[in-house]
Amino acid sequence: MQFLIRYILISLFTVQASWATATGVQEFDDKVHREITELFQQIKITMSSQNYAKEKFAQYLKEHVIFSRDNAPLIGRAAERAIQVPEIYNELMRNFKEESGVGQPMSHYEMYKRGVLELEITVDSDVYSYAMEKLTQAFDKILEFGSLSAIVGAFYVSEVVAIPELEVMQDVVYSYAQNTNKTVSPSGLLQLYYDIHLNGAEQSHQDELGKFVKEYEAYGLNLQEIKEGGEIALKAMKDWWLDIQSCEENLTKIHDPAIYP
Ligand SMILES: [Fe+2]
Ligand SMILES: [Fe+2]
Repeated sequence: MQFLIRYILISLFTVQASWATATGVQEFDDKVHREITELFQQIKITMSSQNYAKEKFAQYLKEHVIFSRDNAPLIGRAAERAIQVPEIYNELMRNFKEESGVGQPMSHYEMYKRGVLELEITVDSDVYSYAMEKLTQAFDKILEFGSLSAIVGAFYVSEVVAIPELEVMQDVVYSYAQNTNKTVSPSGLLQLYYDIHLNGAEQSHQDELGKFVKEYEAYGLNLQEIKEGGEIALKAMKDWWLDIQSCEENLTKIHDPAIYP
């Protein structure tokens, strides 16, 4: 059964055509949006087929909280790689500071982690998951070996993914609350987390990075490399969803200093 689910998911999630063949920047951007829309339509179908099993949705939420923890330092590293292009550096640094809670009472990760406590879901700060490890490794590689163009392409795609992903997670929260007879406070940290992101923050990240993609020549970027970075990022994000959807349970593992010094 697990094999069958995995096979179906792999077939549905396979990138249909290489983005390298998309000629212009508009065509690339249309393709990014189209594939991400299709991805989340499919995720919703898979979720409904899982009949909102509460353990599965608790797992989704834990993964997404861990993502908010691990995503911020990746953005910080992307900013460092953009140091030669002040406009890109400033935007990525703005994003990094926002995620890290600079000038705010707490980071977005802290807000999310404390927020899910409303559902009695506890996320251990030292927990990693195999799925998240693969996702961060893909971004690691781009950050270490990719050009700035590839980095901009990859982080642009991750910002386009952010809104539909947050919308899905918000649905998960309310379904989980309903299934477990819990309440999400409209003025609590959990709702605040979604409000901050869905009422402007993510759209702004996407628009600002999108400007560098669309006007790539003005910032000394290479369109082909932007596309390649974007393609790697989307595949990594699709694989992450594939992993968390198809894995039964116990995806997380305790922080091991030998593996993660
Ligand atoms: Fe955030
Ligand atoms: Fe963002």
